[in-house]
Parts: sequence; C-alpha cells; structure tokens
Amino acid sequence: MKILIRNIKQLVQIDRNSPEKVCGKAMSDLPTLENAYLFIEEGIIRAFGKMDAFSQSDIFFQATKNDVKEIDASGRMVFPSFCDSHTHIVYDGSREIEYIDKIRGLSYEQIAKRGGGILNSAKRLQNASELSLIDQALERLQEIKMMGTGAVEIKSGYGLTAESEMKMLRVIRKLKEISPLAIKSTFLGAHAVPAEYKGRQSEYVDLVINEMIPEVAGEDLADYIDVFCDRGFFTEEDTDRILMAGIKHGLKPKIHANELDFSGGIQVGVKYNALSVDHLEFTAEKEIEALLNSDTMPCLLPGAAFFLEMDFPPARKMIDAGLPLALASDYNPGSSPSGNMQLIMSLGSIKMKMLPEEVINAVTINGAYAMDLQHELGSIALGKKANVFISHKIPSYAFMPYAFGSNKVHTVIINGKIQ
Ligand code: NIG
Ligand code: FE
Repeated sequence: MKILIRNIKQLVQIDRNSPEKVCGKAMSDLPTLENAYLFIEEGIIRAFGKMDAFSQSDIFFQATKNDVKEIDASGRMVFPSFCDSHTHIVYDGSREIEYIDKIRGLSYEQIAKRGGGILNSAKRLQNASELSLIDQALERLQEIKMMGTGAVEIKSGYGLTAESEMKMLRVIRKLKEISPLAIKSTFLGAHAVPAEYKGRQSEYVDLVINEMIPEVAGEDLADYIDVFCDRGFFTEEDTDRILMAGIKHGLKPKIHANELDFSGGIQVGVKYNALSVDHLEFTAEKEIEALLNSDTMPCLLPGAAFFLEMDFPPARKMIDAGLPLALASDYNPGSSPSGNMQLIMSLGSIKMKMLPEEVINAVTINGAYAMDLQHELGSIALGKKANVFISHKIPSYAFMPYAFGSNKVHTVIINGKIQ
C-alpha cells in the first residue's frame, strides 16, 4: 500500500542528520516543514518535502498512478508516533480499590506494606490464563495506538515466580506477533519481594539470578533486564548482582531508580551502561554528574509522580545541565493507570516546565533511543518505519501539550497502514 499525505500544515520532527538522541539545549530545537507532503510505501517513509516542490518530484509521477491512497491534511499536522519506553501493560484487572485508599490518605508504600500494590497484581496475574492476559493487554495496546503511540516497551514483574514471570514474558512475545506496534520486552523479576520471601530478600534475589534469568535468556524471552531499585524494594547491592547476571546472559539493563529515595539506582544503572534509568524523582547533582558521563537515557514518568502526588523530577535542571530526557507513561494499574502520551506531554510541560519542543523530543526520538529503536522510529526520516499520526486541525504543535485531556490524534498510520 502507498499513501500520499498532501497539504500538511506542518510536518513535525523531520530529521535529516539522524541524531541518535537530543541532549540539553538541542532539546528545544524541533525541525519542522510547513506546507509539506509525506509519501509512504511498503511501510517505509520514502519521501517528504515542501508542497511547492511536489510537482517536480518523482513522487508526483507515482501519485498519478491509481494505487496510491491520497490524504488531504489541510490544517492538520503530521508527527512521528510516540515511543513509550516504559510500561507494565500486561496485568489482570485493575486496582481502583487502592486508589480509594489513596484518596483517603494512604501512601503508595503503606498500600504496598498491607499486601496491596505490586503483590496484589501478582496474586491476580498468577491465577490468570495467558489468553485472558493477552486479551486485556491487546485492548490496552489498541487504546494507546489510537492515542498516537507507535512503539512500546512492556515489562514483566507481576509474576514474581519463575513460572508466572515466564508466563508474562510469553504473553509479551505473543503481543509482539499479533500487534502492529513495535514492542520491546523487559524482564522485571525483581519488581517486589514476594510475600513468601518476606525477611529473606537475598534468597529471592538468588532465585532471580540462578533460575529466572537463565530461563528467560534460554528462551530468548526478553530484550532487557530491569530491577526496582528503591527504598523498601531492592537495594543497590541486589541491583548490582542482578544486572551483572543479566548482562552475562545478554540482557541489557533498563531500570527503575530513585522514585522513592536516593537509592543509588542511577549510579548502578550508569555503572552497567543501562539503556535507560527511569523515574528519577530523587535526582541531585551527583546523579546528574553520573548521567552526564554516560550513554544512559534518563527517562521521566510524570504520570506516576502525578498519580502518587510526589515531587516531580527536576527536568529543567537536568536539561540545563546538558542531559537528554525521555518521557514515558509507566502505564500500570498501581501508580499510573494511563498510557496517554499526550497527557504525559502536558504533565511534562506543566509540572516540569519543559517546553513544547522538549516534550515532543522526549516522547519521540529520545523515547526511541530508550528502546534501541532510534534508527527505525522516533522521527520523520527517509527509510524509517512509517509509524506516524495525522493530528486534528490544530493551530500549532504547542497545542499538543497545551490542550491537556483531549485527543488531538485524528488518523493513525502504523507500518504504513491506516488503523
Ligand atoms: O513503575 N515503581 C515500580 N513499579 C511500578 C508500579 C507498579 C504497581 O504499583 O503496580 C511503577 O511505578
Ligand atoms: Fe514502572
């Protein structure tokens, strides 16, 4: 199938020099083309340019043939699809009971201590069938796709036994086969210490290292390894051991760090050359320094900070220090029950003072980097995958984070196909 989108008011995030990620000051640059066209063939971006030059282009001659689907995008903008590099969308049911407890004043940690939180989702997931988990996750994938997401990372971590962690990862593998979205999978056996291991945390870490990791790697079920390195969850030492074991089995780290305290997670992530370190509500000079000397992408999850009413990560300070930033949804039933990346952009700009250009870079090219997809997705570039969306009629790209809560996505194209 070929698609020609004409009269695009503004084509956003075009990339001619193919940067892998954008850092610091460059985050406030957003290359665009006004009054543009975009030509897609066999799922790939084949050409784009100004409408003025269109009639002289090769694409003009192709478009005269009748196998091209033409779309007039007058008044609308075209963006690369969002790359959501941190989610937990394989889970059973929902946890609005805890939400009510939260409204009544309990903290996330208090809820977790009472057997709620991650352990609650683990109990449910252990009893759910693979088929039911696939169905529920597919519905969530469909939902995020129609809100503009074209690539997503999905974690295990609600299994917490070898058997159920493998079940979750098999579900993710199935989703990779069925869904048109680009999907990466992450093994998060060290998400919480299961109730049976209470007081014996290091034995659970041994289980993750000696049984789960070899099994996951043996079946090639994960792209990355994650640990929830934070106060009340896994220590810096636990994380060090798990990451080392994961790397030995070919799993690159991509970890939860510094959500609840200065956990040392950022430093241990950088030490093992993590692809990303995520959350980072507790980030000060030392953490920024560690990140500056690394290839690790700091990824902020403002949906979780909002939902848990925490102080937001110091995004401004981090960008001003020269760091890149990605933003992701953290879509999960406990701390961020939303996968709406448009809302994430609004939270990024309103709560963390990121400029519209910075939030757009954070949810496209930098999100792609945080999933190792920067050469395939994250910008409008020749040869990249045609995962893009056409917006509603909007006055400017700043309207995307500005008009929070409403859907600004009109037409979704994934792998060159209208969804
Ligand atoms: O990213 N921080 C750890 N894990 C999830 C929460 C998962 C849950 O509460 O179910 C998060 O916020
Ligand atoms: Fe998370």
